[in-house]
Amino acid sequence: MEKAQINWSDLSFTYMETDSHLEYYFRDGKWDEGAVVKGDQVSLSIAATCLHYGQECFEGLKVFEDKNGDALVFRIDENAKRLKHSAETLMMEPFPEEKFIEAIYRLVRENKRFIPPYGSGASLYIRPVMLGVSGLVGVKPSDDYLFLAFCTPVGPYFPTGLKPIKLLVEETWDRAAPEGVGHAKAGGNYAAGLRVSKKVKSLGYQEALYLDAKQKKYIDESGPANFFAITKDGKYVTPKSNSILASITNKSLMTLAREMGMEVEQRPVDIAEMDTFKEAGCCGTAAVITPVKTITYKDKSVTLAEGDEVGPVVTSLYNKLTGIQCGDEEDTHGWVRKIELD
Ligand SMILES: Cc1ncc(COP(=O)(O)O)c(C=O)c1O
Repeated sequence: MEKAQINWSDLSFTYMETDSHLEYYFRDGKWDEGAVVKGDQVSLSIAATCLHYGQECFEGLKVFEDKNGDALVFRIDENAKRLKHSAETLMMEPFPEEKFIEAIYRLVRENKRFIPPYGSGASLYIRPVMLGVSGLVGVKPSDDYLFLAFCTPVGPYFPTGLKPIKLLVEETWDRAAPEGVGHAKAGGNYAAGLRVSKKVKSLGYQEALYLDAKQKKYIDESGPANFFAITKDGKYVTPKSNSILASITNKSLMTLAREMGMEVEQRPVDIAEMDTFKEAGCCGTAAVITPVKTITYKDKSVTLAEGDEVGPVVTSLYNKLTGIQCGDEEDTHGWVRKIELD
């Protein structure tokens, strides 16, 4: 099939409608077999619990074309597991993990002409979403649920691409409470961060770096991504916190860093340790690894990248990870699956 007429190398991280999306309903105690729905509209009760009480969670994953024209998806089983965790956290009916994988394959097959070509730097971003859809006015879990999934071709998340970004440590507002739902991929967590993003951008930074909400001492994560640093003595250090999303990218980078001979520490990381950092990155499916240029905390700044130059460790990790994702590097962990497109 011919690819869609798109200028692939000019894509940014924005939404573009594709041919169809999927809708699977949980009604009368069971999930149905789902339907391919043309267009990008969905019909909901005006009293649906997702609209009023935030019964909504989602996922994000990417499909890459390799040099043979095959479609590869990275660690999809981890996304399936995490969506289940998010749904359970919000008292929603989990979508079965195997069904999740089959649904994403189905979605990609239906929209295969939107998979960006190998070497374009772009990918097909998949957005699975779960919604409580019963019409209720009392605060209680929905009886019925909708799992929907759509895809859209995307370029880099940060318009700067692999250029280092400036982070501002946010102290005024919190993203997630220590015993709250920050570990779930709940839409409400992102709405809670919008005012923070607006503020940091107006001050000339690209993203916020959140501290733990209780003590305002330990690094949590940046807006849409986990944080890691490479210390001056060569360790990969990344925060351990109950209020951050367990990033599949970060988990993969920890494995790759170990294999590259680095010591990996996942533990509470005091913001005062920023003086010991040599390089740092924000990591996630959308952000991949976005190198950090400076971290500003109160009246102090540390510089982790001079100009637009990306540090050697971040560069090696980036090359290894993206190489595995698009099939150029050997996948020794079984992280990548090929999607049959016909
Ligand atoms: C808040 C937050 N943290 C971390 C991540 C990174 O997670 P992953 O690497 O699984 O995409 C994301 C999503 O990209 C996110 O939204």
